[in-house]
Amino acid sequence: MPRAKLKTKKLAQRIDLNYFKRPHPFRRLRFLLSVCVPALAIIWLAWYGLTRNNHVYSSGKMSVSHAVLTEQCGSCHVKEAGVFSAKASDQACETCHDGPIHHTNQLFTPNCSTCHTEHRGALRLAATSDASCTQCHANLHAAGSATRYARNIDGFDSTHPEFAAARAGNFDPGTVKLNHRVHLKKNLMGPNGVAVQLDCGDCHRPPASNEPWRFGVQQPKSSSVALKQEPPSINPARAYMSPVTYAQHCIACHGLQFDKRFAESAPHDTPTAVHAFVVLRFRQYIATHPAELRITNSDPNLPQKPFPISPRVLTPEQWVTERAAESEQLLWRKTCMQCHALSFPANQPLPVVANSNITVRWFQHAVFNHDKHRLVKCEECHSTARTSQETSDVLLPGIRTCEQCHHAGSEAAEARCFECHTYHDWSREKPAQGNLTLFELKRSRPREANVSSSHSAGE
Ligand code: HEC
Ligand code: HEC
Ligand code: HEC
Ligand code: HEC
Ligand code: HEC
Ligand code: HEC
Ligand code: HEC
Ligand code: HEC
Ligand code: HEC
Ligand code: HEC
Repeated sequence: MPRAKLKTKKLAQRIDLNYFKRPHPFRRLRFLLSVCVPALAIIWLAWYGLTRNNHVYSSGKMSVSHAVLTEQCGSCHVKEAGVFSAKASDQACETCHDGPIHHTNQLFTPNCSTCHTEHRGALRLAATSDASCTQCHANLHAAGSATRYARNIDGFDSTHPEFAAARAGNFDPGTVKLNHRVHLKKNLMGPNGVAVQLDCGDCHRPPASNEPWRFGVQQPKSSSVALKQEPPSINPARAYMSPVTYAQHCIACHGLQFDKRFAESAPHDTPTAVHAFVVLRFRQYIATHPAELRITNSDPNLPQKPFPISPRVLTPEQWVTERAAESEQLLWRKTCMQCHALSFPANQPLPVVANSNITVRWFQHAVFNHDKHRLVKCEECHSTARTSQETSDVLLPGIRTCEQCHHAGSEAAEARCFECHTYHDWSREKPAQGNLTLFELKRSRPREANVSSSHSAGE
């Protein structure tokens, strides 16, 4: 095999033995890369370490509300022994806002971050997973006693119970009589004998509405519908309907006339106040009409008696007492009673009007928002309102109505628990006040002193 030998030798001679000694741009670059980059990395890390910037651990985009804190890792990740901790402490969250307990009888309290998962992109933090609730509610137990609520809920459109208000046998405890069917019929007799067609909005609107009432007088805005446990995200002035009142919704068609002598109505008030008003009006009247103290049975203001009585002359006080008694018989027994339940205790001169007891909030354990459901007609949810004849009828929708839109899937309204329920008992909220300066928020490398001071304030 001489030929092969020769060939090898020749080939070997062709190899440039000084190849690696001669400089070449690519090789120089490789050297630079292999030595300088690690060096740079070490310097970079050291720099970040020394300046206490935690970006080096970065984990993902922040939620919408916390995006401004992107440069302030330390506001949630409190350093443990000077080292970045990948856990966010509950105390750190609570320096800016409280997350009050759910129920004092819960068996354990999950950490804030198990439900409010951060670094998952521009999301709403309050949009927690069903699992964060069903970890307890799929098999609910309470400390001390048996739970008062449904025990096995694992999803809204699966095992969620019917709403308490819509369960069979439940009734509206209100005492003000109202026949919805009569009032919603065509050509209802309105004020001044003009036929009208009432609409739900003539009696039901949220407090935030500014439109004048068609059949009532505008009242100063009430804030009474706000319940304490309302989550911060619900505005009760738009979410719920104001309770019906006589002055705003009935007065134009149901006056409280008490005597033909007066065009005006009695005030809509307690029987004591009504009595005082009626007596006062009759006193003022008789002072200017003394001739009426002489009573004959031809008095046009009295019903004809079956047999003639001799004319009487009364003192003004006697006259006032008699007239007031007559008017009040009519008021209590007919006018007020059209709408109210009145009782007449034996030992009292005046009747007692039952508490109207109009339910302001039907759901005790869930929120609702009419404003967010403007897209559908009232009757789609309150399907029995047009035909109801009794106040005791419950006109509220049941869970099947909600499930038509709120169910699993991308082409539906949100059906996770947080949409309708409050988790935190906001009535227990403690005030919290953050303490960052604008300077710190803007700076990517906050000074050590500033970082630690922003944590000590929560204690
Ligand atoms: C508003 C509070 C908040 C801020 C600000 C914040 N984080 Fe987090 N971070 C969290 C929460 C909550 C978790 C989940 C940790 C847990 O389970 O306790 C987390 C987890 C992490 C983790 C662990 C991996 C993971 O995704 O679970 C890393 C790494 C991390 N954060 C880095 C950072 C860095 C770097 C910054 C600054 C750029 C930062 N974080 C700013 C709240 C925050
Ligand atoms: C430096 C102050 C600060 C810290 C620390 C902080 N937050 Fe916030 N958080 C805010 C601000 C500001 C908002 C927006 C205003 C609001 O909704 O109250 C907000 C909003 C929220 C919201 C409601 C907004 C949404 O997207 O649903 C939740 C939930 C929340 N934070 C949870 C947490 C948790 C959990 C932690 C701890 C891991 C935490 N926050 C730490 C300042 C802070
Ligand atoms: C079991 C899950 C869970 C835990 C644990 C939890 N939250 Fe929440 N959080 C929710 C849900 C659901 C909401 C939305 C409904 C509500 O307001 O209660 C919410 C709402 C909030 C809001 C927003 C209020 C708003 O609408 O502006 C803040 C702030 C908040 N939580 C802070 C915290 C803090 C701080 C902790 C820890 C101390 C914590 N949460 C623990 C589930 C949880
Ligand atoms: C640590 C366990 C636990 C977790 C997690 C939990 N709950 Fe509860 N929940 C309870 C207990 C305990 C009660 C009260 C039971 C009783 O008193 O009978 C309760 C009661 C309720 C009630 C009825 C009373 C009320 O507060 O109106 C609702 C609604 C409710 N939880 C919703 C939720 C939602 C929504 C979540 C998730 C964001 C959640 N829960 C997470 C334990 C938990
Ligand atoms: C003339 C005024 C009036 C009109 C018009 C009216 N309502 Fe009512 N509504 C009332 C009064 C008064 C109550 C309280 C007494 C009661 O519960 O029946 C009430 C109660 C309600 C309730 C809560 C009570 C329950 O038992 O569920 C709902 C829901 C309701 N109305 C829906 C409607 C809808 C929907 C319409 C239109 C189709 C309508 N109402 C039209 C006066 C009216
Ligand atoms: C057309 C129906 C109607 C008539 C007639 C009527 N009321 Fe009322 N009344 C209402 C309504 C509706 C309420 C509930 C809210 C409100 O207006 O304060 C109410 C509430 C009341 C209350 C407060 C009850 C409570 O909840 O404590 C008293 C007192 C009262 N009325 C007295 C009278 C008296 C006295 C009369 C007769 C002179 C009368 N009302 C006639 C509709 C009527
Ligand atoms: C637009 C005028 C109008 C308004 C506004 C109105 N009503 Fe009436 N109401 C009537 C008329 C007319 C009748 C008699 C209807 C009939 O018998 O056909 C009536 C009848 C009633 C009756 C007796 C119903 C029956 O079953 O026979 C009650 C009770 C009543 N109204 C309560 C109220 C209350 C309470 C309000 C305010 C929330 C109210 N109304 C508002 C016009 C009105
Ligand atoms: C998507 C379903 C839905 C629609 C649409 C709807 N409601 Fe309701 N409504 C409810 C629920 C649920 C409640 C019970 C809320 C509560 O009190 O907790 C309610 C309560 C009420 C109440 C009692 C007072 C209150 O706010 O709790 C009145 C009155 C009422 N609705 C009138 C109306 C009128 C008028 C319309 C049309 C403008 C309307 N609703 C549209 C679901 C609906
Ligand atoms: C016509 C479809 C439809 C029906 C029926 C419906 N919803 Fe909704 N609901 C929606 C939509 C769409 C949203 C989201 C609106 C938004 O976020 O702006 C919503 C939002 C909500 C919210 C959140 C409100 C807020 O302030 O963020 C609650 C709570 C709610 N629905 C409860 C109910 C209940 C309870 C029922 C049954 C009585 C019901 N919905 C029936 C379509 C519906
Ligand atoms: C679309 C709205 C909606 C969603 C989503 C929803 N709920 Fe409810 N939930 C309600 C309403 C409305 C009630 C009735 C409240 C009342 O009667 O006061 C209720 C009642 C409850 C109750 C009390 C039940 C009882 O025994 O009376 C619990 C517990 C509860 N829900 C837990 C959950 C859990 C856990 C989830 C998530 C898996 C969830 N809910 C999802 C609307 C909703």
